[in-house]
Amino acid sequence: MPVHRWIWRDADRCVQKLLRFGETEIDGGRDILRAAEVTSDSLLRRLFMVHATDEHRHGVLFRRRAATLLRALPRQAMPAFQADWLAPGGHGLDDLRVEEESDDTLLAFLHVSEKAAASRFTVYRDALQHDPATRAIFDDILHDEIFHMNYTLTQLVRISPEHHRWHLWRARLSRLWKGYLRLATAVAGVIGAVLLTVQYFIILPPFAFLAKRAQRRERPGWSPISPERNGSLKDEY
Ligand SMILES: [Fe+2]
Ligand SMILES: [Fe+2]
Repeated sequence: MPVHRWIWRDADRCVQKLLRFGETEIDGGRDILRAAEVTSDSLLRRLFMVHATDEHRHGVLFRRRAATLLRALPRQAMPAFQADWLAPGGHGLDDLRVEEESDDTLLAFLHVSEKAAASRFTVYRDALQHDPATRAIFDDILHDEIFHMNYTLTQLVRISPEHHRWHLWRARLSRLWKGYLRLATAVAGVIGAVLLTVQYFIILPPFAFLAKRAQRRERPGWSPISPERNGSLKDEY
C-alpha cells in the first residue's frame, strides 16, 4: 500500500515506530509470562512460556534495529509525524488484563491479537522494500506471530470445544470497540484543537479590540470619585 510505503520511508518515523513496537512486544511478553504463572493447565503454561520468550525476543530485535538506524540518522530537531492511527503497533496486547481473564477468554483474546499482528506485520514487511534489514526482522517475527495465531486457536478449541466460536466473537467485538474508542478519542482531540484555534482567532479579537478602545478612553493619572462612594475607610460597610 502506498500510504504504508510513505510512512516507513521516513527514517526518523521508522525509528520511533520500531522503538514503540519494541516496547509493546516486551510488555506483551511480560503479560503472557504472568498468564503462564496464573494458568492451571500445564500444556498452556509451557506454550505461554515459549510465547512470552518470543515476544521478548521480538521487542529486543525491534529495539536493536531502532538503535542501529538511530545511529545512522542525522540530528533532527522536529520529530516526524507518527501516523499511529494508520500504522499502529502489532498486537494491541496492551489492553490485556491477565488476572481478569480465564484460559478460554485469554486464548480468544490472544488469537485475535496475534492474527491482527500477523496481518499488520505482513503489510509493514511488504512496505519495507527499500530497507532489507528491517524487512528481514519483520519477516522473522512474522513466522512467530503465525505460530502464536495458530497455537492459540488450537488450544482454545481444545479447552473450550463447545464455546470457542462465541469466545472468538466476543474477543473480536471487544477489539473493535476498543479500536472505535481509540479513534473517537483521536478525532475528539483534533476537533477540540480546531475549535480552540477558531475561538482564539474569531471570538477573542473583538474583546481585545473593545478592551483596547476602553483603555484609550480612560484618562491617564488619578481621577476623582463621586462623594457617595467616598465614605470613611474605617467603616466596613
Ligand atoms: Fe510479537
Ligand atoms: Fe505474538
